[in-house]
Amino acid sequence: MQEKDEKLMEKIISLCKRRGFVYPGSEIYGGLAGTWDYGPLGVALKNNIKNLWWKKFVDGREDMYGVDAAILMNSAVWKASGHVDTFTDPLIECTKCKKRFREDTLKEKGTCDECGGKTGEARLFNMMFATQIGAVEDSSATVYLRPETAQGMFVNFKNVVDSFHPKLPFGLAQIGKAFRNEITPRDFIFRVREIEQMEIEYFVKEEDWQKYFEYWKEEMLAWMESMGIDMNKVHELEVKEEDLAHYSKRTIDFEFDFPFGLKELYGLAYRTDFDLKKHNLTYQDEETNSKFVPHVIEPTFGVERTFLALMLSCYKEDTKGEEPRPYLAFNPTVAPVVCAVSPLLKNKVELRDYAHIIYRTLKDEFGRVMWDDNGNIGKRYRRQDEIGTPWCIVIDFDTLSDDSVTIRDRDTGLQERIKKEDIVDYIKERMN
Ligand code: GAP
Repeated sequence: MQEKDEKLMEKIISLCKRRGFVYPGSEIYGGLAGTWDYGPLGVALKNNIKNLWWKKFVDGREDMYGVDAAILMNSAVWKASGHVDTFTDPLIECTKCKKRFREDTLKEKGTCDECGGKTGEARLFNMMFATQIGAVEDSSATVYLRPETAQGMFVNFKNVVDSFHPKLPFGLAQIGKAFRNEITPRDFIFRVREIEQMEIEYFVKEEDWQKYFEYWKEEMLAWMESMGIDMNKVHELEVKEEDLAHYSKRTIDFEFDFPFGLKELYGLAYRTDFDLKKHNLTYQDEETNSKFVPHVIEPTFGVERTFLALMLSCYKEDTKGEEPRPYLAFNPTVAPVVCAVSPLLKNKVELRDYAHIIYRTLKDEFGRVMWDDNGNIGKRYRRQDEIGTPWCIVIDFDTLSDDSVTIRDRDTGLQERIKKEDIVDYIKERMN
């Protein structure tokens, strides 16, 4: 990692901790590798990502059906899907210090990153987390925490078809947790053991797969752009045949220029009829009165990687002043806080009371509104800039006589005076 990039990652990680976005998992007990906890602003950002995704890909469409399947599934699902046999990563152990690595993460092939010792032969390591169900501790009671949300949709294919009789093409969509026993969790929230996925299984006739593959590629790009991901940092990678997952005939990885390298952000796979066939599921086409196995296009999105790509895309430093002013230029729809409300002086009851009425009105309207009366106004602006709040509203002595407030823009630092009753429309217009 270059020094500049390393500094950017350090800044993001420190901001996330300091301002309540992301904390190390189980921190007071020394942490747990590959797990992270999300604080108040992190939850808000994650919820916004997930809600916007659901709005665009499920509620906004006429051909999509949402599901929320159980995390624990019958082990037969993972046997049939091929995960028991093939969901593996090559694991390498150092012969000297015994530390374990994923083969492709080693800086120098054959040499341990930790102690410089010689590494042994690679062996395959299954990444599914296994646990026991019920009181019996034998292999018949072994279940897995799902490593992808996709199978929860495939196994409910028949249920949804029977309830809703959708015509092809149509999709199932799910947002939920998935778990992977990553050999080397790393790079902050980029590679973690407990992940959240937003996935779509889009069912098509075989002859249409290329058309819908292209369609979903455009949809995924449009989503990234609408979220505010820096599109100059997004690159498409056609996955080589020998690197394709066991279920895929074609995959495009959308890679992002992370400070630690060009890495997968999202994936788009043509899963053929692999999964439905494995689960013995078919589709009865009422129009042609024929029975067949639909093919699947799968756009898949990681919540954590979206979060990190957004942080990296939106982090800016305004260097016009004496000191650099860091701010997160989030889209207002994505920002954890839409606006902050402040009385100019903390201890003036008239200002506080007036500000509180405005705060309550805005909170009822937008929900994500923060009350901020801590420190002087300059400090409040800096704090709100750092967490990406698009607007700060200040109630001062003039407000008491003319019912106008100061509204300050995060990106430009410019302030305007507007009437109290215009605040909601002012924000709504800009949010749209
Ligand atoms: N159903 C297909 C599937 O799971 P994948 O490429 O293994 O495909 C999908 O994962 C997405 O989940 C990735 O593009 C990435 O955004 C996210 N993801 C996968 N493993 C992850 C990990 N260990 N940490 C964080 N995100 C991960």
